[in-house]
Amino acid sequence: MEKMPFQDAQGITDLEAVIAAARAAVTTTSDWKKTLPVLTGSMVTLRELRLSDAPSLLAMLSTEEVSRFISPPPTTVEGFERFIAWTHRERAAGNYVCFAVVPHGMDSAIGIFQVRQLEPGFATAEWGFAIGSAFWGTGVFLDGARMAVDFAFDVIRTHRLEARAAVLNGRGNGALRKVGAVQEGVLRKSFLRNGEYLDQTLWTILDEDWRQAKSVWGGQVH
Ligand SMILES: CC(C)(COP(=O)(O)OP(=O)(O)OC[C@H]1O[C@@H](n2cnc3c(N)ncnc32)[C@H](O)[C@@H]1OP(=O)(O)O)[C@@H](O)C(=O)NCCC(=O)NCCS
Repeated sequence: MEKMPFQDAQGITDLEAVIAAARAAVTTTSDWKKTLPVLTGSMVTLRELRLSDAPSLLAMLSTEEVSRFISPPPTTVEGFERFIAWTHRERAAGNYVCFAVVPHGMDSAIGIFQVRQLEPGFATAEWGFAIGSAFWGTGVFLDGARMAVDFAFDVIRTHRLEARAAVLNGRGNGALRKVGAVQEGVLRKSFLRNGEYLDQTLWTILDEDWRQAKSVWGGQVH
């Protein structure tokens, strides 16, 4: 019978290295429940929301053009503070993450990227995003989106990332198409907004598609 690898000194070193790597992997993948990492792109940083982001998020996300096709955001600073505290609790419980979008040279959040599990363990998850309209069309979305999607696939180990956008939401659908999501169908009358049921487009990205696309664009954020 061949010696088992851990029966000689080299084997023990290998085994220790394997255990250390496994521990590191476990730490990396579970750390986000304690606090989110800071992700740095070419235009923006993604980081944990802070209570002090509440006034800027109120100014950025509560306008009619931003909120038209999304679940109604809070309407007061206190409401955003409660939302931010809730995001921290849901992250700690391992159900959900919400990143603040902070352009380089600024301190406060101008938008958010959210990912929530649709089944325990995040294998299927849903993402959503909103950015202040002053930053639309600037490249901030794509920069942040690539980091948020990387995080979903690489760290929280999502396999299938869904997004829903009201069919009438031209920018939302355009943004999802641009980031490489695939349109799977239309969810008829699935979203109640201002007393009216709206159709939504279901968009998905699979981990394998994302890795393939990244090998083409080389992980470069532009
Ligand atoms: C969704 C959002 C984050 C995207 O950010 P953005 O900066 O507007 O996105 P971009 O400009 O990078 O990309 C949008 C794309 O849609 C295109 N687009 C704009 N209006 C469009 C329309 N009516 N129909 C189709 N495509 C449209 C744009 O031309 C752009 O594509 P391009 O860069 O190839 O020209 C931002 O618009 C937002 O916060 N909207 C309000 C909240 C929201 O709707 N969230 C999405 C819920 S699914």
